[in-house]
Amino acid sequence: MHVNITAVMKKFILNLEVTENIRLNDSYTLIKLTFGTSLLPEMMPGQFAEIRIDNSSTTYLRRPISINYIDRQRNEIWFLIQIVGNGTRYLAQSKQGDVINAILPLGTGFSMPPSTSDKLLLIGGGVGTAPMLFLGEQLRKTGSNPTFLLGAKSKKDLLQLDNFRTYGNVYITTEDGSYGEKGYVTQHPILNKIRFDRIYTCGPRPMMMAIAKYAKANNVFCEVSLENTMACGIGICLCCVEDTIDGHLCICKEGPVFNINKLLWQI
Ligand SMILES: Cc1cc2nc3c(=O)[nH]c(=O)nc-3n(C[C@H](O)[C@H](O)[C@H](O)COP(=O)(O)OP(=O)(O)OC[C@H]3O[C@@H](n4cnc5c(N)ncnc54)[C@H](O)[C@@H]3O)c2cc1C
Ligand code: FES
Repeated sequence: MHVNITAVMKKFILNLEVTENIRLNDSYTLIKLTFGTSLLPEMMPGQFAEIRIDNSSTTYLRRPISINYIDRQRNEIWFLIQIVGNGTRYLAQSKQGDVINAILPLGTGFSMPPSTSDKLLLIGGGVGTAPMLFLGEQLRKTGSNPTFLLGAKSKKDLLQLDNFRTYGNVYITTEDGSYGEKGYVTQHPILNKIRFDRIYTCGPRPMMMAIAKYAKANNVFCEVSLENTMACGIGICLCCVEDTIDGHLCICKEGPVFNINKLLWQI
């Protein structure tokens, strides 16, 4: 029987301390947190945390945020935050020394390739680049050579490029053509030049659907990380369900990472 290791991983409720909050641009901030002298638990790329928003009187529910990176040397976890509403705005205002409560690691992670010689393409769009950094680092650490394809609206929205370049070749598209190829990630010529064995992706749903369509047409293994709206984050409230070949599944528990063959997307 196949057991998904991320589904049985122990979950923790941790008080993490902010070590750094780096404002990347108008809409994005990178928050680094430590667990002090205790080691952070094991986590897999694609998993996420449910973060409690303590200072907002309008944000009752925790907010799901992907694990962006784990710096084991500094015992730090990174979260890349796009400011869209009150919850993320309050998070973005956190300062060094503040304590943030997080439940983690939640959900399933991306599956690792069977061979380190597999050609791997990691595609991230917008804040969907967040889990791709951790995935790229883990793939590189285990001997693979990932390629990244990152999409953004404009040059100013491209994030963590130097970090990505540490782990593999980086290709870029911007919608306005201010950096890299002009257009969407699915229009990048790399998709016609290299025959990839696996594609991993996270980003806006239309982007992931277009990538799933390409992967299906070319018979390429493909995993997507869904970002459906969530409440509990632990499979109780049923507000995050996705229609799959196995029925309605909670993406917070059975996902957020799914093989495209499992999803009933009309593509
Ligand atoms: C598994 C998962 C991982 C995520 N990882 C990250 C991450 O690494 N960094 C990050 O910044 N965000 C991430 N998100 C999205 C993040 O959870 C939402 O942006 C956040 O909950 C919004 O909270 P808020 O209080 O700021 O805004 P709200 O006031 O709750 O919402 C503001 C606006 O954002 C929209 N919105 C809320 N949630 C989502 C969502 N899930 N997808 C699209 N639109 C949404 C609302 O419809 C509304 O228009 C992730 C979501 C999921 C499900
Ligand atoms: S968010 Fe509650 S079941 Fe998924």
